[in-house]
Amino acid sequence: MIRNQALITGAASGLGLEFCRLLAADSYDLVMVDKHGDGLEQAAKSIQDAYGAGIKIIEKDLGLNRAAEELFAEVNLYEFDILINSAGFGLFGFFAETDWQFEESMLHLHVLNLTHLCKLVVQKMIHRGSGRIMNVSSLAAFQPGPLMNVYYASKAYIHYFSEALANEVKGTGVTVTVLLPGLFNTNFASTAASYSGSSEKKEKIVTTTVEEVARTAMKGMMKGRIRIIPGFSNKLLSLAPRFLPRNLVLSSLRRIQERIRKEERA
Ligand SMILES: NC(=O)c1ccc[n+]([C@@H]2O[C@H](COP(=O)([O-])OP(=O)(O)OC[C@H]3O[C@@H](n4cnc5c(N)ncnc54)[C@H](OP(=O)(O)O)[C@@H]3O)[C@@H](O)[C@H]2O)c1
Repeated sequence: MIRNQALITGAASGLGLEFCRLLAADSYDLVMVDKHGDGLEQAAKSIQDAYGAGIKIIEKDLGLNRAAEELFAEVNLYEFDILINSAGFGLFGFFAETDWQFEESMLHLHVLNLTHLCKLVVQKMIHRGSGRIMNVSSLAAFQPGPLMNVYYASKAYIHYFSEALANEVKGTGVTVTVLLPGLFNTNFASTAASYSGSSEKKEKIVTTTVEEVARTAMKGMMKGRIRIIPGFSNKLLSLAPRFLPRNLVLSSLRRIQERIRKEERA
């Protein structure tokens, strides 16, 4: 029996790992991609033990130039039914003060390599007449974000790119979904804090769990939904920037970020 195949980035932890669990439980074979091999191996083993899925792991830093091309060369013979771009990270701080190495990596990861992977995979999917792509953006995509400037801007790129691609592939049998979640409980906040020079950041305004986000997203993707915002309060938050004056949105977000940074340092 031929099993369906899925490629998931950011598969070693958090949301990406949760997607892997759901797909393996649904009898998919997986190609799990992440930056660090150790976490990836452990994650793959836990999934294999629980579900017996066929798993290939690829250790790849998608924050580097041409990483999507290199990754695709390793999986060229696969016929992916699903591509999920979940790998991502945040960075706090004034743009004038943050370390360019993180922003450069973020732009390669969130923008260039995500886009290139979509191109490489969507061409094969259209040729076959079926396939699903999901790109993980964020509620951050709905407005500019002082003190997380490049993160917000790059998530807005993912949002717009994915919606336009979803429109372009209509009628081909391929669907594209963009996931726009609010905060949920993963390593995301502590990674962002460590890249910004803080020791630990405790997430106080988490509105949903990673399991809920993954389940909602998976259900929506399988139905071919174009955009998914898990949780009622997040849906409301996504609408606010449309109705409030832009400068008020910017100053409020800046105040929130400054408060978080002050609490981190306290
Ligand atoms: N958690 C939230 O509150 C939240 C809210 C909205 C959107 N999101 C988005 O959700 C997605 C998943 O994040 P998460 O919350 O699950 O965080 P997470 O637990 O930190 O998972 C992100 C995964 O991506 C991997 N990754 C980071 N940089 C990479 C790179 N250059 N190449 C390959 N893999 C890389 C990380 O690997 P390492 O750990 O080895 O670095 C990690 O395994 C991200 O796109 C994030 O922007 C998260």
